Amino acid sequence: MMKNIQAKTDDGIALLSVNRPDQLNALNNETIEELHLILNDFNNDKEIKVVIITGSGNKAFVAGADIKEFSSYSKKEGEKLARNGQKKLFDFIENYSKPIIAAINGFALGGGLELAMACHIRLASENAKMGLPEVSLGVIPGYGGTQRLAQLVGKGKAFEMITTGKMISAEQALEYKLVNYLETQENLMSKCYKIANQIIKNSPKAISAALKSINAGFNSEINGFEVEIDSFSNCFQSDEFIEGTNAFLEKRKPNF
Ligand code: COA
Repeated sequence: MMKNIQAKTDDGIALLSVNRPDQLNALNNETIEELHLILNDFNNDKEIKVVIITGSGNKAFVAGADIKEFSSYSKKEGEKLARNGQKKLFDFIENYSKPIIAAINGFALGGGLELAMACHIRLASENAKMGLPEVSLGVIPGYGGTQRLAQLVGKGKAFEMITTGKMISAEQALEYKLVNYLETQENLMSKCYKIANQIIKNSPKAISAALKSINAGFNSEINGFEVEIDSFSNCFQSDEFIEGTNAFLEKRKPNF
């Protein structure tokens, strides 16, 4: 039984809500652990094809790492916090075998924006506000924010957002290409489900290979083009490739 996460699954789509509304869904260690465990379960569950992450209530997606928890940490504890968090949740999400969509339904600050940025696709509601305010607390983003923000919005805007610590509006986030879509609060989830429903029609194995190949291009230690060739060729030995191509030739819908 999870304390801080609500999970709902139907028709191949899992919805996870970070549920600490009194703390604006701030990510404490326990919440990170719970998210890791449930995502790990879903990773091994063939029925689940897409995951959507959102925040409970209508005010916050996630308002950051839990400041109360880390305020008295030493250097060593700080290192552990960032390293464990990156491994268990943020890198884990980015390298997940299924697409993860962030439904940013309110404040996405610090670790909250870092969580959204680790996801593959981001949508925001009109009331959402995004920022990395860590320097106002005397720290810097530690869950991959300095890296992923620069990748998503470019170095110049990342320097500005991180050094000013200012929040941007959902409209600005769309303009910055930090989010793919901007929706009314009312329509946010239905748009997420619409995208998820388009994804689940396709081959899960091919999708997994595509996620891996796209990520490879952002890893300076490996050659993304080589990973693409390797992943592409692997598809030819998958049952889903046989099904997908046969379905096309037989003029029917594939059944993956
Ligand atoms: N960690 C721990 N608790 C948090 C939190 C966080 N990151 N963000 C919000 N909360 C808690 C508040 O302490 C408050 O709890 P309390 O009622 O026990 O005092 C509760 O959530 C509600 O927040 P509050 O600040 O009263 O709401 P607000 O509407 O006035 O302001 C924010 C909303 C998001 C602007 C403000 O909460 C904020 O700046 N949060 C911190 C954001 C941040 O710096 N994140 C990066 C962390 S690395």
